[in-house]
Amino acid sequence: MPAQMQQILDAINTDLRDDPDRGEVASYIPELGQVDPHQFAITVATADGQIYSAGDATTRFSAQSITKVFTLAIALGRSGDQLWRRVGREPSGTAFNSIVQLEHERGRPRNPFVNAGAIVTTDEVLAGREPREALAEFLSFIRAAAEDDDIHINADVARSETAHGHRNFAHAHFLASFGNLKNDPDKVLGTYFHHCATELTTTQLARAGRFLIGADCHPRMVSLDRVRRLNALMLTCGHYDGSGEFAYRVGLPAKSGVGGGILGVVPGKASIAVWSPGLDRNGNSKLGTEAMERLAREMDWSVF
Ligand code: DON
Repeated sequence: MPAQMQQILDAINTDLRDDPDRGEVASYIPELGQVDPHQFAITVATADGQIYSAGDATTRFSAQSITKVFTLAIALGRSGDQLWRRVGREPSGTAFNSIVQLEHERGRPRNPFVNAGAIVTTDEVLAGREPREALAEFLSFIRAAAEDDDIHINADVARSETAHGHRNFAHAHFLASFGNLKNDPDKVLGTYFHHCATELTTTQLARAGRFLIGADCHPRMVSLDRVRRLNALMLTCGHYDGSGEFAYRVGLPAKSGVGGGILGVVPGKASIAVWSPGLDRNGNSKLGTEAMERLAREMDWSVF
């Protein structure tokens, strides 16, 4: 398998690197709009401890919504199933930043991966503390998962999103109006914008994702039972209104981010990180999805 895996990743990198049809880089966070779209990286971390990479696997990118998996794991660790009183577990069928369901559904977001739901999980992580303390807990979780302390938050990206994040301010205040925010909205958003602004390489992300592999994965960060639940939510909600399409094409639990990264999980076998900054119309990496689709097909990886 090792030689075969490296060959597959090299071939995917060679074929996708020069693909002219790369999607659009996110520009609603101006700092992300500056990123060169002609970049591509892929890393696989296997359950038996091997790491395989191709492309720009040492270049850092903005994790954005991929961090929602980590804050969800921390929030469940702090509050257990009480969290589900405040946020649902159903696909939304709407965009990641849509506000329409929140009024009908009385301020309980559909799932923890749409922005409103992730603002609730961030509120649970904040838990009356200062944002700096909650962010320290978040960083120590992701660093321990990756076994790499060189993972940091890009303050310029957080600042850029704070200055332009009107939708998220609307979400937070709307949640507060329904009594579904325990902390000051500005502190919750400060924490949220900063964890989203975490930067890492595909190598670091694939390593950080190993805790979701289950079975004999290392390092063990949460119980196996919870690993299954996190994977179920990634499969059904991890790509927003593109989740059904992603499950159909790739067949693996995965979480995307508007920085162009995707973290995928092959239960019992591997964690996969891909990065290409151009996005499709649902805000998910265009070439990243193609790379995952091809890797899953060639490795015969699927949860189905
Ligand atoms: O709140 C936002 O809009 C961003 N910080 C994160 C959105 C995101 O990554 C959506 N994913 N594809």
